[in-house]
Amino acid sequence: MKTKIVKATDQNIKKATKEIMAGNLVAFPTETVYGLGANALNENAIKKIFIAKGRPQDNPLIMHISKANDIYKYVTNVPKKVEKLINKYWPGPLTIILKKKKIVPNIITAGLNSVAIRIPQNKIALELISKSNCPIAAPSANTSGKPSPTTAKHVYEDLNTKISTIIDGGPCSIGLESTVIDFTTRIPTLLRPGAITKEMIEKIIGKINLSKSNAKKIKSPGMKYNHYKPKAEVILIKTKIVKRFITEISEKNKVLCILNSKTKINIKNKITYKNDKHLGQNLFAWFRDADSKKFNIIIVEATKETKLGVAIMNRLKKASNVIIE
Ligand code: TXA
Ligand code: MG
Repeated sequence: MKTKIVKATDQNIKKATKEIMAGNLVAFPTETVYGLGANALNENAIKKIFIAKGRPQDNPLIMHISKANDIYKYVTNVPKKVEKLINKYWPGPLTIILKKKKIVPNIITAGLNSVAIRIPQNKIALELISKSNCPIAAPSANTSGKPSPTTAKHVYEDLNTKISTIIDGGPCSIGLESTVIDFTTRIPTLLRPGAITKEMIEKIIGKINLSKSNAKKIKSPGMKYNHYKPKAEVILIKTKIVKRFITEISEKNKVLCILNSKTKINIKNKITYKNDKHLGQNLFAWFRDADSKKFNIIIVEATKETKLGVAIMNRLKKASNVIIE
């Protein structure tokens, strides 16, 4: 199959909605990362997502809707707390998990009795969903295990020949996947940190729990798989960056350093980040870029685990082979 990257014109979005309605896949931009979309009510279409990504069958997908009221069509009960949260943060990078209704195909939830739902905050995504006349199931549009795509080109690198259309909406503004919060537990549980932080959520609905990723029973199936990994080995450094360490590794390897701009150190291959927003927006793109330039080690200086830094460190810990504390 020939894969086209198309501009987000009205005509191209219309064509893309036809693909969705015909049960085919379309990659599209969101504010977090690019999604690989299919009609969420069509089992055969959803199967194609798992095949194109090489995604394990037991890892459920997020259902994307364009109007908050649509949530009532797909879940059995919407608690007051959820209403408050979605009033505040939808459209936006927040995914809500609730008990599903029968109409939601089992393949999208990987057999679970709950479904994950969000409204993305991106004009192109919203148009695609509302004009397709169906909810759109969409995981991140990367090959399973690789860093999530934040540009149309990243999607093309992974899915060329596997899908017909990629709608180009430019780089994603957030660059990290949505916050996922589970409301099927008595106290809501944060399963994946994102740009909507724990504090932002607690301000609206009170205390929530953090999921323990080392818990015996894994709540979010996606948490047990490898994630966000570039080909290069990632070394995450939580202590002060030591030049001697970098110099020694660089003697035998091609090393890229991603450092806080406050860290003054003179080394050859260096990218500096100004703040968490800048790091979050670019982290996956820098990983992919390092791979294309054949770096075999990426050293990343850790950021503080507060606010957006929690989501960034969550991705970095999963991507890294070695953590130096
Ligand atoms: O920002 C995002 O959320 C992007 C864009 C495209 O919307 N999508 C995304 O999808 O990151 P994906 O499939 O890469 O990640 C969805 C996560 C997975 O970790 C999955 O296991 C979890 O949500 N998930 C989905 N449904 C679930 C459910 N019913 N119960 C627990 N976890 C669920
Ligand atoms: Mg993903």
